Amino acid sequence: MKNTVATFKQMKQTGEKITMLTAYDYSTAKLMDEAGINAILVGDSLGMVMMGYEDTIPVTMEDMIHHTACVARGAKNALVVGDMPFMSYHENAAQAVHNAGRLIKEGHAQAVKLEGGATVKDQIKAITTAQIPVVAHIGMTPQSVNAFGGFKVQGKGLDQAKQIVEDAYIVQEAGAFAVTLECVPEALATYITEHLDIPTIGIGAGAGCDGQVLVYQDALAIYSDFKPKFVKQFAQVGELMRQGVADYINETKAGTFPAKEHTFKIDDEVMAKLEER
Ligand code: KIV
Repeated sequence: MKNTVATFKQMKQTGEKITMLTAYDYSTAKLMDEAGINAILVGDSLGMVMMGYEDTIPVTMEDMIHHTACVARGAKNALVVGDMPFMSYHENAAQAVHNAGRLIKEGHAQAVKLEGGATVKDQIKAITTAQIPVVAHIGMTPQSVNAFGGFKVQGKGLDQAKQIVEDAYIVQEAGAFAVTLECVPEALATYITEHLDIPTIGIGAGAGCDGQVLVYQDALAIYSDFKPKFVKQFAQVGELMRQGVADYINETKAGTFPAKEHTFKIDDEVMAKLEER
């Protein structure tokens, strides 16, 4: 059955955990969908894990639309959430609605995600007023890497913790149907989860959240540039790929690939006629 914003609401009420992973292409999305994932986030993390940038700052709307459309074609039942890249919603609410609309119309997402709390309240209000469901994202927001001075846990001190709690209430009030809590202390994320009506989706925020999200290249050990503390590697897919590629190289060089079963036949008669030419 198709997962929708209503499914998220129901899961918050029943206490069933929400599962979300990132994906950026058709085949991966299809595989995750078949495995039964509730939601697929086409994250702007694609800037790092797909495009090799150092952070998410250079990612464009065109990048996001392209990858979101690929994922949407593979996701039959998972809710597809398209991430709004840096500077695609920061100017004003009109810009935010325009670009959120593109992710829905051209990328075929069913919801959008954007980073920030109080600072993007008007944007969340405007997007949800346009009937586009919004996932908010607070705590450590990667698009603020330059403002934070690096990828750092947020909310350890009282002032920051208070601000994050306030942000959570603000994004809920503005109309977000879920909120991502990234890299905040477990107790703070649990406190927020217990006080909000909308589900929290944690990444580096502990098991008290209503759901979890991970970048799939982290979860499957494909991305090797660095491994955040909060990542669990559920399978060594990177190692499997490396081994598969090495086997392909070795067999091709040895002439054992392709074998007979990988080839197509032609009638001897046709070959004989060719020889006559
Ligand atoms: O871009 C992304 O993948 C994200 C997740 C880390 C939540 O925002």
